[in-house]
Amino acid sequence: MSGRDMYRQQILDHYKNPRNYGELEDATFEHVGENPMCGDTIKLFVALADDDETIEHVSFIGDGCAISQASASLLSEELQGKTVEEVREMDREDVMDLLGVEVSPMRIKCAVLAEKVVQDGAAIYRGDKDIEETTTEE
Ligand code: FES
Repeated sequence: MSGRDMYRQQILDHYKNPRNYGELEDATFEHVGENPMCGDTIKLFVALADDDETIEHVSFIGDGCAISQASASLLSEELQGKTVEEVREMDREDVMDLLGVEVSPMRIKCAVLAEKVVQDGAAIYRGDKDIEETTTEE
């Protein structure tokens, strides 16, 4: 299997068997976002440790295409143990690295939806942003 096929398999696997799926009872913050082009949604729950900085648990619920949902699942694993500051510094390259495949320009918004949601959620929690919902349209 080529490296690319391996990543494709991984995306399908995360889509079919999403990791950390469900609501988090003890979430420190949660946030929701949508790709208005297609209606896909992701809601992310983040529980911080007592230091109010280190991510202890992440979970998500969502509805949509394989790339948006697999990205959320992959991200939910990647974020455990990171700090809020590190999350806020992530960019789309980090998501592409997680997915491991080239994503067409049409699908980039699918890929970055979860990342935007967690970053906006963190910014709102820190008092740096005041929005109800994230969209991929900005
Ligand atoms: Fe909607 Fe992918 S088709 S996020």
